[in-house]
Amino acid sequence: MERTVVLIKPDAVSKGFIGKIIARFEKEDFLLIAAKFMRLPDDLLDDWYEHHKEKPFFAELKSFMISTPIMAMLWEGKDAIKRVRKLCGPTDATKAPKGTIRGDYGEDVQRNAIHASEDDHAASKEMDLIFLPHEIQEWKR
Ligand code: RTP
Ligand code: MG
Repeated sequence: MERTVVLIKPDAVSKGFIGKIIARFEKEDFLLIAAKFMRLPDDLLDDWYEHHKEKPFFAELKSFMISTPIMAMLWEGKDAIKRVRKLCGPTDATKAPKGTIRGDYGEDVQRNAIHASEDDHAASKEMDLIFLPHEIQEWKR
């Protein structure tokens, strides 16, 4: 079983899409093993978006991501990282097909409703940045 970190971003939170997005993952038989509604600290975002540090949109991205609390979740399932990314759709919500989470709930390239870990390395880094071991539920399958 694989684990992946998902954030429901401020645009989707402020439009009331948390439940609808969670339902997409439950429908695909992923299991929720940790969750918290939280405002991301500034230094955590520096780490999280380290790969975008030099980009012109970095400051705007950070201020968007702290504009409201976000819903942080850890989902578990077979091939979770790849399958969850597929459910999200491409980064730019204007190009994301209907039926994907970004296609249905996102607005544009930045306000794209959701984050999902890109690969193994990112998933483990992001899990450690957000969750403490005792906040993670180990379900017996
Ligand atoms: P994410 O990390 O949120 O799952 O998205 P991603 O892998 O599809 O895209 P990534 O390249 O990691 O970008 C992270 C987030 O930065 C914002 N972004 N804005 N203005 C722009 O051109 C631009 N490019 C990226 C988006 O919010 C993107 O999800
Ligand atoms: Mg990414």
